[in-house]
Amino acid sequence: MNPVETIGVIGGGQLGRMFALDAKRMGYYVVTLDPQEHSPCGQVADEQIVAAYGDLDAIAELGRRSDVITYEFENIDIASVRHLEALGHRVSPASSVLAITQHRVREKEFANSAGIPTTRFAAVRSLEELQEASRAIGFPAIVKLAHGGYDGKGQWRVSSPAEAKDAFAASGGAESIFERHVALAAEISVIATRSSDGEIVAYPVAENAHDRGILVRTIAPARVASTLTERSQEYAQRVGRGLGIVGTFCTEFFVSHDGELLLNEIAPRPHNSGHYTIDATPCSQYEQHVRAICHLPLSRPRLLANAIMMNILGTGAGDRLAGVSELLEDPSIVLHVYGKRHAVARRKMGHFTMLLDGEVDDVAIARAEAAHRKLSWSPC
Ligand SMILES: Nc1ncnc2c1ncn2[C@@H]1O[C@H](COP(=O)(O)OP(=O)(O)O)[C@@H](O)[C@H]1O
Ligand SMILES: [Mg+2]
Repeated sequence: MNPVETIGVIGGGQLGRMFALDAKRMGYYVVTLDPQEHSPCGQVADEQIVAAYGDLDAIAELGRRSDVITYEFENIDIASVRHLEALGHRVSPASSVLAITQHRVREKEFANSAGIPTTRFAAVRSLEELQEASRAIGFPAIVKLAHGGYDGKGQWRVSSPAEAKDAFAASGGAESIFERHVALAAEISVIATRSSDGEIVAYPVAENAHDRGILVRTIAPARVASTLTERSQEYAQRVGRGLGIVGTFCTEFFVSHDGELLLNEIAPRPHNSGHYTIDATPCSQYEQHVRAICHLPLSRPRLLANAIMMNILGTGAGDRLAGVSELLEDPSIVLHVYGKRHAVARRKMGHFTMLLDGEVDDVAIARAEAAHRKLSWSPC
């Protein structure tokens, strides 16, 4: 196998940026492809090809310039990944992984076939199927686009057949999934990396808090029973093996009030809930991804400090982040800013990780939240 010198990244967002920072540190040349010029990843990569994810000529150019290609966003056009593979390029993870993980119905069917429970769900492609799903699964429920949603977008919480019908209409009648809403005791996720030899390493389980479908806080390690963390890591191993993923991936779970552990989603890439691994472990989820796709040995994940990661979202009030100096008065905080020009409301603009001397408890969480309140957006 030829040694990897150049890594191509489809997608120029913050995940690509943090990946590129690690790849650069390890001596790789990085080329990214994104439609937006000077993208967060493009700012740190060696080169950016400015083109749509579905532009097959540009994708082929990315392939020509790269020894291996990866992606930082799973809603890219699968035809682009297949095109690269057909041209003989190596893409990690492969298009077969994307075909399952970018489709919510196929993803949950895969989980169930691997013996991993999910909430009850049904595929909805017509009004008849919607009515059937309403009857069979019941309410409260969530109607989600089968394909293309992220950060809670393309989802409608519904509590009656009439609302379900409105949601399906709002989706434009696009293929959807009808899911039973789970009364959540907690949400947890497992970041893991699988090498091309089939070795899988998993990070300590993370506990996630969302606000209207968007991640706002991650705590590591998760404050849930060890039976649940062990089982979730075992399920993550099954996901990695079953899909044959090469690279870092995330498996998100719901913990129900009845103590059930239900798979929610699989992301075939580094994940927001794994940002804490940059500062709280010796080898981040991004470096592990570099190692996996470049056929290097993996590092055994180890938590050096308990951590709280807080996302910094835009508010629409302006593009200048104020309060950074006040935030950093706390020496246990590490700040990451993604270089996005416009702090549109609810856009992920950055995050910080607070490294703790002791346990994650309510006092530590209150400290992280108070630190977060020091930040605000103002006009430039
Ligand atoms: N079936 C469900 N029951 C309860 N909460 C849900 C359900 N589906 C989604 N959610 C909530 O919405 C969040 C985002 O949904 P998710 O399916 O993970 O989509 P996304 O791709 O936008 O991350 C979840 O993390 C959870 O907080
Ligand atoms: Mg999710």
